[in-house]
Amino acid sequence: MSKEFKRTLITSALPYANGPVHIGHLAGVYVPADIYARYLRLKNEEVLFIGGSDEHGIPITIKARKEGVTPQDIVDRYHGMIKKSFEEFGITFDIYSRTTSDIHRETASGFFRTLYDKGAFTEQESEQYYDEEAGQYLADRYITGGCPHCGNEKAYGDQCEQCGTSLSPTDLINPKSALSGAVPVMRKTKHWYLPLDKHEAWLRQWILEEHKEWKSNVYGQCKSWLDLGLQPRAVSRDLDWGVPVPVEGAEGKVLYVWFDAPIGYISNTRELLPDSWEKWWKQEDTKLVHFIGKDNIVFHCIVFPAMLKAEGSFILPENVPSNEFLNLEGDKISTSRNWAVWLHEYLEEFPGKQDVLRYVLTANAPETKDNDFTWKDFQARNNNELVAVFGNFVNRALVLTQKYFNNKVPAAGVLTEYDRDTIAEAQKVKAAVEQLLETYHFREAQKEAMNLARIGNKYLADAEPWKTAKTDMERTATILNIALQITANLSIVFEPFLPFSTVRLRTFLQVEGLLWEQLGSFDLLPEGHTLGKAELLFEKIEDEVIEQQVQKLLNTKKENEESEYRAMPVKENIQFDTFEKLDIRVGTVLECEKVPKADKLLRFLLDDGLQQRIILSGIAAYYPNPAELVGRQVCFIANLEPRKLRGIFSEGMILSAENADGSLALVQPTREVLPGSKVV
Ligand code: MF3
Ligand code: ZN
Repeated sequence: MSKEFKRTLITSALPYANGPVHIGHLAGVYVPADIYARYLRLKNEEVLFIGGSDEHGIPITIKARKEGVTPQDIVDRYHGMIKKSFEEFGITFDIYSRTTSDIHRETASGFFRTLYDKGAFTEQESEQYYDEEAGQYLADRYITGGCPHCGNEKAYGDQCEQCGTSLSPTDLINPKSALSGAVPVMRKTKHWYLPLDKHEAWLRQWILEEHKEWKSNVYGQCKSWLDLGLQPRAVSRDLDWGVPVPVEGAEGKVLYVWFDAPIGYISNTRELLPDSWEKWWKQEDTKLVHFIGKDNIVFHCIVFPAMLKAEGSFILPENVPSNEFLNLEGDKISTSRNWAVWLHEYLEEFPGKQDVLRYVLTANAPETKDNDFTWKDFQARNNNELVAVFGNFVNRALVLTQKYFNNKVPAAGVLTEYDRDTIAEAQKVKAAVEQLLETYHFREAQKEAMNLARIGNKYLADAEPWKTAKTDMERTATILNIALQITANLSIVFEPFLPFSTVRLRTFLQVEGLLWEQLGSFDLLPEGHTLGKAELLFEKIEDEVIEQQVQKLLNTKKENEESEYRAMPVKENIQFDTFEKLDIRVGTVLECEKVPKADKLLRFLLDDGLQQRIILSGIAAYYPNPAELVGRQVCFIANLEPRKLRGIFSEGMILSAENADGSLALVQPTREVLPGSKVV
């Protein structure tokens, strides 16, 4: 069932405006969407690429509260930052707007009202936690209490961050409001629900039967949701940040952020094209494609389509290419833990190298499974692929033309079989890249584009124009003509992927306005055409630069460890007599040495005031020169049941302080005291 489409509407998930954007955003959503948009434009197709910030939702209000500013202040700050980062990375949105715009409020509100008037919602009363002091209902995140699974005292109403369990607010032991600290009470509230259960049948047919071509991660997730059976979903919330529910008696209620946000795609289209937006959203010959990350699948494949269907006049997405997650050096990217490569920082530290990041993120895109970004891989792909293959080929073709033909495109003479084979191979690239891009396989598509540079590189290496130049200028002319035509082809095929570099390449070649259709032509540069000044297309990235980035991450890791350590919860209270059972004393070190064949253990001989005792302590790694400790005073637990370790009786335990990185330092009195003194 293949439809005929006249135009393509591309949307990319609206990022939450509660922080800057990082490489995970680019890799997962915006680079692939931009490649797709650029490719279609290069084919002269009618295309619209919509972006914007998602400015509602609880995380934004929490951040505002923490900083003592308004939610609007927060979104103003990050919307501007995010928009700028995308521009600088060459993400070619036709519009990048926001969900706090008037037109969005009006569009979202109108959409809700239409559904409401059609009877597309159900209404339900439920009991929800209410803070009587603050005078408002509490979002799940605004309630803290004890986790029933691990005992963490500061679990949130939606999740315990200590053990990772998802919770609902009623699971919490001794719940407290994060707003006022008051004990919340249960109060009745009314909400509107989208009865997804009633949409299940057509959704099953539409997705599971009619869209088997969706990527397997997307299809699979939809299938498991559908197989579990869909439930009605609340589309309103008791909150004061969001689009007000446009129904009488709904004061203090706003649209749920996941209801209003996808309508943002529509509002932004309306903002850009007030008179013609409908053709993009309501005509069957428009192909709607949503680019998203995997945590957004259910909303774009099930909830939003159900909303559109319920409204009745909108088209449904034709595809929802969704990526998995990108990790950073083995760990999950996290905004709150600052574990990310932030785009605005990258731009400062690697000015002019947007394409390098675009290239690496596409080469490593988490298309079918989570993937890892490492700085080593970033360097290797730059040095071994962009510099050594693409850049090197272009540079050789240009420099040789300068040297032998005064920078003018030489004429191609008689072609050898090898020339013809090379051309034929180069011409295969177009169909291969097209097929891959049209099925959203961006990583493979870019590989195929790079293959064209490999073909060129190999051709020059085999044909050796620097050798033929000694005897046969006609042959040399042919070789360089072919090589130059390949560089011009590269400027087309890489345009969607590396927009900055291909613009530069075209200035080196002094050509403009090449279109996708011309890919595969070997007359892109006419004979006698004068080339521009050639520079290096890419430059090598040195080890020091990479080490600096790795060090930066190591520092972040250390800071995180330290702050987690500081936030370590204090153990449960004990009674004084429990403490009194411990007999802690000071001893003077008489001997200290490593225990043979045990890398961690030091054997201490202590003067404990009455006699001498042996204690083993696992701190060898932190005192490489144990003899130094002789004469020092340490604290030890004197009444710990002796234990046999490595065949030695250890009579007690020496006290050390443990640092955030796990290293240990002995605890010592600040003034010398009599051996055997009690620690009280
Ligand atoms: N803000 C959401 C997120 O970052 C994505 C919203 S996509 C939408 O996960 F357009 F549907 F809103
Ligand atoms: Zn827990």
